Amino acid sequence: YVKGQVRIHRSGKTEGGVGLIRLNRPKALNALCDDLFKDLVHAGQALDSDDDIGCLVLTGSTKAFAAGADISEMKDRTFDHAYKTNMFAWWGQFTKLSKPVIAAVNGFCLGGGCEVAMMCDIVIAGEKARFGQPEINLGVIPGGGGTQRLIRAIGKSKAMYMCLTGDMMGAEDMERAGLVAKIFPPDDLVDEAVKMGTKIASKGRISVMMCKEAINVSQEVSLEEGLRFERRMFHALFATADQKEGMEAFLEKREPNFTHK
Ligand code: HXC
Repeated sequence: YVKGQVRIHRSGKTEGGVGLIRLNRPKALNALCDDLFKDLVHAGQALDSDDDIGCLVLTGSTKAFAAGADISEMKDRTFDHAYKTNMFAWWGQFTKLSKPVIAAVNGFCLGGGCEVAMMCDIVIAGEKARFGQPEINLGVIPGGGGTQRLIRAIGKSKAMYMCLTGDMMGAEDMERAGLVAKIFPPDDLVDEAVKMGTKIASKGRISVMMCKEAINVSQEVSLEEGLRFERRMFHALFATADQKEGMEAFLEKREPNFTHK
């Protein structure tokens, strides 16, 4: 269904479903104005708390995933407004979802659009996707993680190159660099994302959520603390029915029937 400037589709069976969010502001190449981003956060939160959904997919159109924050909305803002309101800090709400989010990127994925893709857990791309952090061409710098998440994804030299020149990189380059997990023909991309999401949603829900949480913790803490966190999560999973079922099914040479408990 349509909610504001996003379209939400739910697919798949009860408990193993995938929630698809499609950014839908075609006239502005999905430029992320405040209203669009609010709709995105609300859609993400609604799907995240829906028991029938095990994984989310975020996509745009064939032409653009998102061409960045909305420049016309930002242009006349002042430093004191930006600073006092901590402009764009609230976009971080999208990173607080507990189920995995797959970004399916076709077309332009620029500035805030690239930053939103990097807030997702897996990025897959259509062959013609173009990634960039062109903020430097506007007299600013990335403000939603471009100088922080990009370096973790593709390393310092490539991150510096993209942020300092504003040049775009294609899907193949970004796959080689490590930001993109897989590339598909543009027309197949969303179906492939939903297929990947369905596979993830078929696993035990608690183990999927803990796996996402543990991997994200690695971005924040020392290796020793991260390993400890991972081990504690691993231990905790032995309290779940899905651990018993998963291991029993393996030994009985059958498919597991996870109940997400
Ligand atoms: C507002 C935008 C926009 C944007 C495109 N449009 N990007 N409007 N904000 N970021 C609008 C155009 O003004 C135009 O509107 C319509 O979308 C179509 O765009 P065109 O430029 O005509 O299309 P095309 O020639 O195909 O070029 C595509 C493009 C170009 C290369 C993607 O639009 C572009 O360079 N966009 C800006 C990319 C950018 O600088 N992004 C970073 C933004 S700053 P009209 O009305 O003329 O048809 C940012 C900071 C984030 O993201 C920090 C906080 C999180």
